[in-house]
Amino acid sequence: MKCEGAKTDRLIERRKSDHIEICAREELMAGYSYWDDVRLIHNALPEVDLADIDTSTVLFGRKLDAPIIISAMTGGYGKAEEINRTLAEVAEHFGIGLGVGSQRAALENPELVRTYSVIREFEVPLRIGNLGAPQLVGQGSKVPLDVDAGRAAMGMVDAHILAIHLNYLQEVVQPEGDTQARGCLEAISEFSSSLPVLAKETGAGISRSTALKLKQVGVKGIDVGGMGGTSFSAVEYFRAKSAGDATRINLGETFWDWGIPTPVSIQLSTVGVPLIATGGVRSGLDVARAIAIGSSAAGLAGRLLPAALEGKDSLMLEMGTMIQELKTAMFLVGAENIEQLSATHALLTGRSREWLNEVTE
Ligand SMILES: Cc1cc2nc3c(=O)[nH]c(=O)nc-3n(C[C@H](O)[C@H](O)[C@H](O)COP(=O)(O)O)c2cc1C
Repeated sequence: MKCEGAKTDRLIERRKSDHIEICAREELMAGYSYWDDVRLIHNALPEVDLADIDTSTVLFGRKLDAPIIISAMTGGYGKAEEINRTLAEVAEHFGIGLGVGSQRAALENPELVRTYSVIREFEVPLRIGNLGAPQLVGQGSKVPLDVDAGRAAMGMVDAHILAIHLNYLQEVVQPEGDTQARGCLEAISEFSSSLPVLAKETGAGISRSTALKLKQVGVKGIDVGGMGGTSFSAVEYFRAKSAGDATRINLGETFWDWGIPTPVSIQLSTVGVPLIATGGVRSGLDVARAIAIGSSAAGLAGRLLPAALEGKDSLMLEMGTMIQELKTAMFLVGAENIEQLSATHALLTGRSREWLNEVTE
């Protein structure tokens, strides 16, 4: 039995390392840039000095210097400690939020705790823990994680909020994924009654009816994790390719662009809880677009990964540029602060507009 467990641990570690390598190396984005559908209106008379622009905001009661979250990416295997250290150093420097990857591995194997808890060494203003919704309901013989496990995950990284990720696209296209989804909302409800919970999709988006259900069970916020950025179906396509698994190659390719585009998902999920726009965010201009269409912050994962793997200096440069782009967009629409940016008129055009004209969910 013990031997079987060790084998499973090795498989999970291998999968985590595959994800990082594939996401850093391959082109996984959708073929269409939905963020370019969001148009901000130029203001030729901004009536604000660039130097006075204030990008700070408050999210889940935590003050951030910019409305940016480094989204959950890793933890639970050797190299993850170094990556999470780099991410935390940069999050501290820029005063932005940071999420760790799914913490289940460390709940099961204490030797892996350090690959996540390293972020506690830095003054990150908003730290986000992470567990997967599929693990909160039974999966065959696997025991579901309970609220105490959620509390332990939060304690491990001194988290201000716990992300419960919804990743059924990934689970259904990967080999031996956790595909028992019945009871998931009830489990989120139970967690939400004791812990501050952020419901988080991971690249396929949230519909209006899902957002309403999540709000009803008491989540503190929703990260819509929409389509248009990292596609886990694409990740599985590349994993299947190296394993020579023809069925999964097809599955990965067919569902590559599955999901609700992020800007559309933000519009649909405006149900009265703070929203984080993650999925395909490429620049500080996209962050500004996200705020202008109703998000409280924007999240980035795939776009930051190559720089994060290069090290702290590369990621510092990347994030510095992004914040400069955000300030530039704010200047050009005449928004002195995030509140004014939120009130800025934005147009939704192209395929995103088509989606919104038709969607009834
Ligand atoms: C390498 C990698 C690993 C990820 N692991 C997790 C995870 O463990 N938990 C989670 O909630 N999301 C995870 N994500 C999803 C991201 O947090 C994010 O929702 C998704 O990648 C969409 O954002 P992007 O288009 O900016 O990459 C991961 C993303 C990447 C690129």
